Amino acid sequence: MTERQPFIAGNWKMHKTLAEARSLARDIRDGAAPGRRAEVALAPPYTALAAVAAELAGSNIRLAAQDTFWEKQGAYTGAISPAMLADVGCHYVIVGHSERRQHFGDTDAIVNKKLTAVVAAGLTPILCVGETKAEREADQTLQVVRRQLERGLGALQPATGTDLVVAYEPVWAIGTGLTATPDQAQAVHHFIRSLLREFLGPPAEAIRIQYGGSVTPDNAATLLAQPDIDGALVGGASLKPEMFLPIIAAAG
Ligand code: PGA
Repeated sequence: MTERQPFIAGNWKMHKTLAEARSLARDIRDGAAPGRRAEVALAPPYTALAAVAAELAGSNIRLAAQDTFWEKQGAYTGAISPAMLADVGCHYVIVGHSERRQHFGDTDAIVNKKLTAVVAAGLTPILCVGETKAEREADQTLQVVRRQLERGLGALQPATGTDLVVAYEPVWAIGTGLTATPDQAQAVHHFIRSLLREFLGPPAEAIRIQYGGSVTPDNAATLLAQPDIDGALVGGASLKPEMFLPIIAAAG
């Protein structure tokens, strides 16, 4: 079996002033054991990327962006390109987060354009997929996840397959305090792994699949113990070092 390094990422969403972001980044940098097993990344809002990059310089914590636009540059008021994110020091870019799909109209086709642009810029996408409560209740979870993954990846080639992270985030579990049970999550992660094999071939074994949705220090260890759960994408609990650091520690 392929050994996959656990990957814990903090998605700060629309939180933190510059001073707060610097302070949180420092607390996480100083509190996360340098010899830990898990890879760690922080995704502050755009306004704090440069400041957080400066705090993380020389550490083994990576910088991530929460979204991007797909064009390289041009007259696109308000947009940020993957090249700009690379320039500020990002390694990862989240694409297809359910809040982008819900509030900003990101469709699967848009998600694919973003993912393609991120890969073209030499960055690694974290592709988010996940069903709503209504879709789960209608027994459509696997169908929805298949559609989001297939259309989101589009023509992504196996050669680039390993430069990809997938995050399974059931929409009903995000910010709600409801978490998928380890068995529920593992079942979908296992399904995602089989789809990655189908779409990308052998590189699928090395792709990390994170779970996201109300991950806390209390549930992190049991979720991460599942064979196809390779990390966590953490929202609310990533805003507090006393919550986020134990989640990192739970990954070993
Ligand atoms: P949550 O958010 O941990 O606050 O549920 C997760 C996410 O949206 O990535």
